[in-house]
Formats: sequence, structure tokens, C-alpha cells
Amino acid sequence: MRWSVVKSGVARTGGDLLILPVVEGDLAAVQRLTGGRDDLAAIVERAGFRGAAASTLPVFCAGPATGWILLVGLGKPDRISLETVRKAAGTAAQQARSMRARTVVVAPLAAETGLDAETVARCWVEGFEMGLAPAGTADARRSATHGPLVGKVVAERERDREALRRGVSQGEVAAAGCLEARRLVNLPPNQLTPQLLAEAARGIAKRSGYRCTVLGPAQLRTLKMGGLLGVGQGSRNAPRLISLESRGAPRGAPTVALVGKGVTFDSGGISLKPGAKMEVMKCDMAGAAAVLGAAVIVAARRLPVRLLVVVPTAENMPDGGAIKPSDVLTMASGTTVEVLNTDAEGRLILADALHWTCRRRPDYLIDAATLTGACVIALGQDFAGLLGNSSELVAVLEQAGGETGERVWPLPLVDAHREALQSKVADLKNLGPREGGALTAAAFLSQFVPEDIAWAHVDLAGPAWTDKGGPLGPRGGTGFGARLLARAVEILVG
Ligand code: BES
Ligand code: MN
Ligand code: ZN
Repeated sequence: MRWSVVKSGVARTGGDLLILPVVEGDLAAVQRLTGGRDDLAAIVERAGFRGAAASTLPVFCAGPATGWILLVGLGKPDRISLETVRKAAGTAAQQARSMRARTVVVAPLAAETGLDAETVARCWVEGFEMGLAPAGTADARRSATHGPLVGKVVAERERDREALRRGVSQGEVAAAGCLEARRLVNLPPNQLTPQLLAEAARGIAKRSGYRCTVLGPAQLRTLKMGGLLGVGQGSRNAPRLISLESRGAPRGAPTVALVGKGVTFDSGGISLKPGAKMEVMKCDMAGAAAVLGAAVIVAARRLPVRLLVVVPTAENMPDGGAIKPSDVLTMASGTTVEVLNTDAEGRLILADALHWTCRRRPDYLIDAATLTGACVIALGQDFAGLLGNSSELVAVLEQAGGETGERVWPLPLVDAHREALQSKVADLKNLGPREGGALTAAAFLSQFVPEDIAWAHVDLAGPAWTDKGGPLGPRGGTGFGARLLARAVEILVG
């Protein structure tokens, strides 16, 4: 969609749908913007529309300024958050599509919400674009009918104009990163093998100005990455280690490393998963998608940071060469790991990637991974688990998630969880007790991060995928994490 900011005077702005966000119980703005039309006020009242959150009312207005108006509720003024604005926008976007609108005009985006103009415009555009995104499909011919192509944000007050412009462009950037992540997650795994994920990353790097390096199996052997190679060895599609790095970061800029789990399909390997819903395991590269989406956003914002994005990617499959329960792998760090369950593969590939990344001594290190079903049981689909060795970094991610609406919730990481991973035959085993599975998984990762590197781990197994669509997107990959991680980077360098 193409967005612009236009001068006030809604009636003269053109467009085939006028969208008016309404604070609950406050229809004065509607009156003001439509020139105090009594018939409109009467219709809205008759329809019982008060502006409750996520409620909508399409109204056709005859007479001067003929056309469709869509009222969209924001809820009570004291309860309006950034996420309220995004969801209202997403709802309006879906409604606009079903009304076959091509050009939408939205107004006002500041006055009654209590939020500043820039923030409201940013959240509006972000939510609108997210809500509009069609379900992922391999076949372009099957993609849903087009939604609106042009959006105009009305500046009621001349002095809001610049702020609205900035907000619009930030919203576009954030949505682009999220949708890029979503697109990757939704690709069928035969179209997103480790090799193809590496090619996608190269494309992103090129467009966003990063240096990209892809290590193949031979180089992984040189680096002795027994975890990544081990997980990949049951598949014909060999693993890769992908990295992106900022070009020309300012001198003295901090290095922030983002590591994303890139299992392009998780069958479980020899510890095969049950067949029901196995198809959802194409989302097991959502951590990789999140860090790549974040890279897109960070580049567009031109943040003063040396960003290092690292994606270990493999396909977890059970062929005759696959790793077996009781195999012992030697990781790049030299640590030996007894594999007791080949379905606990994420920690194996991340161990090598974290070790490799830490040799670069980043100032901050965040990994994102669809790591455990246990985390979904603990926190549900709407929250990612958050663990780490740095309370500062954990707090930054909590703040970022509160702002972007990608909620994260802290979970404990203590020595007892590391002790639960002691093996009789190796330094570690890859499987802890069933109880607290998200905690022992994080404890496993912590063994590959030196204690003096500030590290946080985001387990996004729950929110990475949704079975039911909502105002911010259809069924499928959600793009969770891209905006969150980009915002965290921004806070860290800000
Ligand atoms: N990729 C899965 C975790 C997952 C579960 C992601 C649900 C998305 C939705 C991970 O590799 C896995 O299989 N974890 C096992 C670990 C267990 C064997 C210790 C799990 O959670 O069951
Ligand atoms: Mn698994
Ligand atoms: Zn997995």
C-alpha cells in the first residue's frame, strides 16, 4: 500500500472509503469531520454504535461528500493502548477489503486518543498493513482479493503533519519487517530448505545493505559444528550457518547479535513426532524469520549499531543417516552432548550458533527460537517465554514487547536447571525432565554463552503461529519477534 499525509478537509480528500476511528462515547470528532451532519449522527445512534473496541459500522452517506464511511471503535479513552490502535486499524483494513475499497482516507489520528500524532500514525499504518496481509500461499493466483492500494492520513492540524509523516513511514517499516518474517514462516518447507533460507537471507542482506556469509557443510565440518551437522545429517537438504552483518556501522557503535533458530521442518527425527498437526512444524524457523525481519527494520531505521544476525538452519528428518537417541555429539565448543531425544534439536543447532557468535564478543546477545512445546503449555499462544543472564536485557525486551504488542514473560533460569542436564556419558544431555521443559532448554543454551556476555533467550513456540486469524493477520505465521527485536535493538542503542 502507498500511504501519504494529506491536509485537513475530509470531504475534499477523495478516496472511496473514509475511515473514522472513534473513542467510545465520543462522537464529537465524527460530527466535526463530517461537517456536523445530523443524518449521520442519527444513523450512528440508531445503529447503537458507541465506539467499543474493535466494533465497526459502515455507513453510506448521500448528499454532499457522498460515499462510504467506516466508523471503527477504539474503546474507552483510558484503555487505549498502542495495540488498541493497531487492532482497530487491522479490523478496518479487513473491512475495507471486503468493501472493495481501493483508496482509504483515515482521520483523525491524534486528537481524541491521548496518544501523540506520530505514535498513532505509526500504529495505525502498522496494524493496517498487518491486518491486510493475505494468508501465505505458494500460489500467487490463489492469493486473496486485493485490499486497498492507497491510504491517506488526514492531518487535522497543520502542526501535526510532520509527526504524522514520520509515524506513517515508521509504521510501514515495522510492518514490512513483520510481513517478511511471516512470509518466510508461511513458505512450504520444500520451498524453504536450509539452502533456500540462505538464499532468502542473501536477498534480504542485499536489499537492506548487510554483508552476508553462508557456511555450508564442508565449512561447518571445519568448525566442528557437531550440533548443527548432527541435526542436519538425517536430511538430503544439508544445513547451513547464515550470518548478516552491518556494513559501515559508526565507530564505537555497540555490537548486538541476534540468533534465530532455523529448523525449516521439524519432523522430530528418529524421535518422530505424531502425525497430527505435524504440518505446523514448518514454523520451526520462526526464530530465524524474526531475526531476519528485525534486520530489515533495523536497517531502515539506520540505527547506530553493529548488527550481527546469525541463523543456524537445518531440516530435522529421520533417514538412515540420522542421529539416534544415545548418540554423542561433539559441539563446536568441544562440549559433548548425549542425544536422548532427536526432537530436542533446536538446542543442538543453537549451541553451535551461540558459541560461534560469542567468539565475536557481542555487547548484547538475544536468541529467538520456537524451542519448546513446554513453553506453549506454560504461557499459551499469546506470550513468548523470556529467560537470560542479564536483568538489563530482560527488562529491555519486556519494555519492547509492551510497546510492540509482542508480549514476553519472564521465566526462571537457575543452576538447578543446568544440573538437570547432567549426563553419565557426556558433558550434557539434550533432554531434561518433562516438567519445566522451557527452563531446562534455556539452561542447555546457557552452557554455550560465556557468563560475561549479556544474553536473553526468547522462546516463541507459542506466538509464532496462529490457528485462527485475527485483526492483525490471518491463520499461519504471525511474524512474531521481528518488531520486538528491532525495538529492543533501538532501546539498547538509543
Ligand atoms: N520445534 C519444537 C517445539 C515447538 C512446539 C515449536 C510447538 C512450535 C510449537 C521443538 O524442537 C521440540 O520438538 N521440542 C520438544 C522438546 C522435548 C523433546 C524435550 C518438545 O517441546 O516437545
Ligand atoms: Mn523438535
Ligand atoms: Zn524444533
